[in-house]
Amino acid sequence: MHYPQLRLRRRRSTPAIRELLQETRIHIEDLIYPLFVCAGANKREPIEAMPGVYRLSVDLLLEEVARARQEGILAVLLFGVTESKDELAAAAYDAEGIVQKAVGLLKERFPELVVITDVCLCGYTSHGHCGVVKDGVILNDETLHLLAQTALSHAQAGADLVAPSDMMDGRVKVIRDQLDENGFSHVGILSYAAKFASAFYGPFREAAGSAPSFGDRRSYQMNPANRREAMEEVLLDLAEGADLVMIKPALAYLDIIREVRERVLCPVAAYNVSGEYAMVKAAAAQGWIDEKMVVMETMTGIKRAGADLIITYHARDIARWLQED
Ligand code: PBG
Repeated sequence: MHYPQLRLRRRRSTPAIRELLQETRIHIEDLIYPLFVCAGANKREPIEAMPGVYRLSVDLLLEEVARARQEGILAVLLFGVTESKDELAAAAYDAEGIVQKAVGLLKERFPELVVITDVCLCGYTSHGHCGVVKDGVILNDETLHLLAQTALSHAQAGADLVAPSDMMDGRVKVIRDQLDENGFSHVGILSYAAKFASAFYGPFREAAGSAPSFGDRRSYQMNPANRREAMEEVLLDLAEGADLVMIKPALAYLDIIREVRERVLCPVAAYNVSGEYAMVKAAAAQGWIDEKMVVMETMTGIKRAGADLIITYHARDIARWLQED
């Protein structure tokens, strides 16, 4: 009996052999922890569709980050939540704004923490769109200088990386120029390069109060059906000066992550978005899936697809699980 000669099961025969031969591993250093910061003090507002995630006032944000740092998390991605909204998103580029204040305090208390800020207008505009609106149209070029101002204000507050998530054409270049001209050539850009118009952002919009009041985001975010166009977006952002590129969402776009990984040399990030988080939490709460196993399998899949970095609301849970094992 010569068959089968090659028995791949030999490689799976003991826990130690399986561990030895594992091709993809999740490290805490791979993770970026997204956080929502709101005005006030001692505020910890739950987000219904994202159990375990809160809108935190800056004082409580500092405590949350202290715990995350202790668990080995290196980087956070900040989103501001505000009631003060207007047509031109003034609160987004206010030097005394919520994100700007949070960044300053975070860098003061945790100088080594990598602070990344989401640069977008949707949480700050009265209409909830990511750009300037005129006659129901989201204007591209009129939006660019507001994004650049927002990015600059984050840099001035001490951000290490700014992450434009608006999907206007040309914003990476305008932000790069604005940073360079103002003495912030050391601040990097993590561009949401291939960001799809996804239904998986639903819970986030509740969290950030950033749902569009009319229409949708399909005239600026990408059509989920388009693979080649995602590559164009990524190459364009790199040509404009992006240091790192992001694919978003992650799970329905693993093929995009893989293709970007094979085409570019820079670090690639994937955003495990709010809807992906909500689905896992909901099923786990029902006892229908094993949360830890599902989350770790998901992270492994995203990393195996080619992501170097994963932005995930599960970051602190993962930190705890990695320590347990
Ligand atoms: C802002 C922004 C969004 C997300 C990140 N930045 C929402 C959107 O584009 O509507 C989504 C993040 C998530 O769902 O976790 N433009």
